[in-house]
Amino acid sequence: MSHKPLKPGEEWTGAPLGADATLGFIGHVETPWKRLQDCPKRADPEGPESRVILKAPWGCALEGVEQFDWLELYLWFHKARRDLLLIAPHHADGPRGVFSLRSPVRPNPIAVTNVKLVAREGDQLIVTGLEALDGTPLLDIKPGRCPYA
Ligand SMILES: C[S@@+](CC[C@H](N)C(=O)[O-])C[C@H]1O[C@@H](n2cnc3c(N)ncnc32)[C@H](O)[C@@H]1O
Repeated sequence: MSHKPLKPGEEWTGAPLGADATLGFIGHVETPWKRLQDCPKRADPEGPESRVILKAPWGCALEGVEQFDWLELYLWFHKARRDLLLIAPHHADGPRGVFSLRSPVRPNPIAVTNVKLVAREGDQLIVTGLEALDGTPLLDIKPGRCPYA
């Protein structure tokens, strides 16, 4: 993957990350955003609908989700750079450590988003409140909570 040049104050690690665990994608999301630059910075539960698509055999594990208004989605931000230590977000006045930010740029690019459940259609969920790129892989789903509460 080619990367943008670092901004002043940003730092990266040349030390490769170990592979201490194995993850398996259980599906992916279909969202309206086909380019990273078009994704919302913050999820908006009043925003457009997206689709969460489980692959076999995981659709069966959706049994019972309809009782929840909110679900927590764990996504793998597959296009994110993973080797930065300090980054300079445009909203901050200088570089910050990645663990002080919810940036997609992190050693293990796991994103957590509370989405509003609109409907279940078999192995798929219709939700609002996603900010992920179309095709982003899905790692897990848990009962969520209203982000406004
Ligand atoms: C700030 S992050 C959201 C973080 C997440 N809600 C969390 O708290 O873990 C949202 C941004 O991540 C980026 N993004 C979305 N999908 C991505 C993907 N599949 N790979 C890399 N970056 C992605 C987009 O630039 C989007 O605006």
